[in-house]
Amino acid sequence: MILFLLACATPAAEDTSEAWCADKPAVEWDNFGHGFMTTYCTSCHSVNNTESRYGAPEGVDFDSEADVATQADRVRARTLDAGDMPLGGGVYEDDLYFLDIYLTCTLGLP
Ligand code: HEC
Repeated sequence: MILFLLACATPAAEDTSEAWCADKPAVEWDNFGHGFMTTYCTSCHSVNNTESRYGAPEGVDFDSEADVATQADRVRARTLDAGDMPLGGGVYEDDLYFLDIYLTCTLGLP
């Protein structure tokens, strides 16, 4: 039974993500991602923060799309799944929805 479920899980998940993305708007770095990171993340997570990062780990920066793409799974985990980034919360529901589209459909994060 478990083997049966595992065997079916991967293709089903891909189909679902493709179908889910099909009717979603084009959410890109230039029309969303950059603004999202500037609004919610780079006050702490930026290479430009030389004085204080408010405890954000060195190297966890979101200044460019490449930065986000290489850490996309962690962005999803903390912002969409756990909801504990940014510290203190406060992300608009619409922005969370567009972030999900950006990570799933544009960056191709499963
Ligand atoms: C007020 C400062 C602040 C803001 C704003 C902030 N963070 Fe963080 N972030 C931290 C601190 C402090 C840590 C280290 C402690 C921890 O991991 O909880 C951290 C750690 C992280 C980590 C590394 C740990 C891991 O789970 O991999 C990620 C990824 C992360 N933040 C994502 C984000 C994202 C995405 C945003 C914007 C939506 C954001 N953070 C906004 C302060 C901040």
